[in-house]
Amino acid sequence: MNEIAINATTVNGERSHYEPRTITTFVPNSTPMNIRPRRTRKTAISRNMVAETRLNKDMFVYPYFVTHGKGVVHPIKAMPGISHFSIDTLIEDVRKGLQHGINKVLLFGVGEEKTEDGSSSHSHHSIVPQAVSALKKEFGDALYVITDVCVCAYTSHGHCGILEEGYVNNDKSVDLLCKMALSHAQAGADMVAPSDMMDGRIGAIREMLDDHGFVNTGIMSYSVKFASAYYGPFREAADSSPQSGDRKSYQMDPRNGNETIREALLDEDEGADILMVKPALAYLDIIRRVKDATLLPLACYNVSGEYSMVKAAASQGLIDEQRIVMENMTAFARAGCDIIITYHARDIVEKGWLNGAI
Ligand code: PBG
Ligand code: ZN
Repeated sequence: MNEIAINATTVNGERSHYEPRTITTFVPNSTPMNIRPRRTRKTAISRNMVAETRLNKDMFVYPYFVTHGKGVVHPIKAMPGISHFSIDTLIEDVRKGLQHGINKVLLFGVGEEKTEDGSSSHSHHSIVPQAVSALKKEFGDALYVITDVCVCAYTSHGHCGILEEGYVNNDKSVDLLCKMALSHAQAGADMVAPSDMMDGRIGAIREMLDDHGFVNTGIMSYSVKFASAYYGPFREAADSSPQSGDRKSYQMDPRNGNETIREALLDEDEGADILMVKPALAYLDIIRRVKDATLLPLACYNVSGEYSMVKAAASQGLIDEQRIVMENMTAFARAGCDIIITYHARDIVEKGWLNGAI
């Protein structure tokens, strides 16, 4: 950069009281100083006026872990601030959330009987269908109930399907998932969310639901779900760790980007209503690519490991929790998410974080 002299009537951005004069500056004369991006950053009002990304409570979905029993509020050690609830305590907690505008929940069942074939996953007596009907009875259309559809919390081996000689059989697993999805729809779920990553399950579930008259029960597909270490705390919460091996033969390889578009477009073709990318923070590039490839609404799942890292660092005073959380949420929305599934949702609305600066 050369030291140059320019003729200026302004000094430091303010009109000079003096005659035009020569000042010395290090700004090269190729830079047009009539253009100053800092102008609209000057005050909070102008920053808010030009903000390209605006968060809204309608974007948030709050996950719940529901279990049998009465009066249960059992904190999950690996996820500070998150608990297992029984149906009675769940209803009271959901009521509190509703008062703050959290009107969409995603349910996971825990503590169900685990068998080789995961048959409790589609029993009407299982905790998820019971919780769905209790919630819908209590809140009706004021609450939108989404259920996670996957059998890993219901199989003795902890895999997301039918295990045969160490390999998860795709088509038999799809049959099981269809039955599970149907049992949730029959209980009154507004939307089912298959999280298993079997091929062809969205089309099969859509057909199963339609054949039974549930044409208006939606499907949010965990379309792009990576085999990720970020699910660690969840597996304690849901007691759903695989007893042997890992999930890499069905969940996606974090090294792949093009393949996410294939998965997303397949699910769109098969009849998904909403697509999802999961995890979120380490996959913002994927969120943007999928968003650009589809016309469907896009969700991201800000998963347990992402949540617990923030909570752990905040509890040690290492970071400013509110600002970090809201910066993360902003990043999801800016990357292209319309819907954010996050364990932070309750803090965000109850502590008024949507109104604060990030
Ligand atoms: C079940 C399921 C998992 C999550 C959502 N559904 C765990 C997994 O696939 O291992 C992860 C959610 C989280 O980490 O918050 N398949
Ligand atoms: Zn699973």
